[in-house]
Amino acid sequence: MEDLVVRAEGLRKRFGKTQALDGVDLAMRRGTVLGVLGPNGAGKTTAVRVLATLLRPDEGSAFVAGIDVLKRPQDVRRVVGLTGQYASVDEDLTGVQNLVLIGRLLDMTGRDARQRADELLAWFDLAEAGQRPAKTYSGGMRRRLDLAASLVGHPEVIFLDEPTTGLDPAKREDMWGVVRNQVASGASVLLTTQYLEEADALADEIVVVNHGKVIAHDTPDGLKRRVGGQTLRVRPADQSRLPEVLQVLDAVAAPGMTAVRDEAAGSRPGAASVPVTGDAALAGAITQLSRSGIEVTELALHLPSLDEVFHTLTGRTKTEELV
Ligand SMILES: Nc1ncnc2c1ncn2[C@@H]1O[C@H](COP(=O)(O)OP(=O)(O)O)[C@@H](O)[C@H]1O
Ligand SMILES: [Mg+2]
Repeated sequence: MEDLVVRAEGLRKRFGKTQALDGVDLAMRRGTVLGVLGPNGAGKTTAVRVLATLLRPDEGSAFVAGIDVLKRPQDVRRVVGLTGQYASVDEDLTGVQNLVLIGRLLDMTGRDARQRADELLAWFDLAEAGQRPAKTYSGGMRRRLDLAASLVGHPEVIFLDEPTTGLDPAKREDMWGVVRNQVASGASVLLTTQYLEEADALADEIVVVNHGKVIAHDTPDGLKRRVGGQTLRVRPADQSRLPEVLQVLDAVAAPGMTAVRDEAAGSRPGAASVPVTGDAALAGAITQLSRSGIEVTELALHLPSLDEVFHTLTGRTKTEELV
């Protein structure tokens, strides 16, 4: 089995004057979650539509589960689940009927289809609503039914295009649970999102897309490290040793930086922190603290938030601009 379950090279797609994809390479390892992050108009949906065989690129190649997307689209469709597509929900049918219909289209027996429908509706907290026509569903319920529909056939590769946009935080976390469940049972998930914390929480690797180009591909922590700006914080058990801690931190500081005292808040004892450039600083500080016999209650390396990373990579100032 090929290790890369999605592999795309040099994808280009133009709509009139818009170069939606401008040479996109993608790679997703089997059994992992790949997060595709990018501002509105970056080309995320276009890339997903190419991979899901809904759109032909002008140039480039793509393979899903080792199958050539351009040469064997029918075979690709058999292994892929896509939210909101084959999933197309019929408004007049109930939740159960929609899912059973899809199961039947996938050659399941009536009994298996019904069983799968009930299982999925329970997962998505739609068991009760399952008897009502889909047109009576709220927006959030619709999205969940869409996602359930894409999972009926136990797809090995799942494409989720902004699966949690518009969901309230509780439902969003339910959805994260579903994604994790799918991965635990062997599926691979490519999801686009406008929520940095979602990519951080779910993705094994993140591809950052901007203006139809991939501008970064790394693990969430790798992205944060790349942008730098880590902070090492140490809180001594004995406050009288804070001056020594400051000295230890100065010795491992990033060039030109000095350690500062963090204000003690209320009964919380004081700490010291310093900007550092790499993991070596952490090891150096630990060695020196233990040599000096300084006991600590906190010792942590804080990475920058993914928000800061995204800002640095795309030059955008606010997360809101992602929407
Ligand atoms: N069918 C289309 N016709 C014309 N322009 C399109 C079409 N689909 C996408 N685009 C344009 O291509 C660019 C990328 O769109 P899209 O892939 O939807 O971005 P994203 O999903 O990252 O928001 C945008 O400028 C968008 O307006
Ligand atoms: Mg989109």
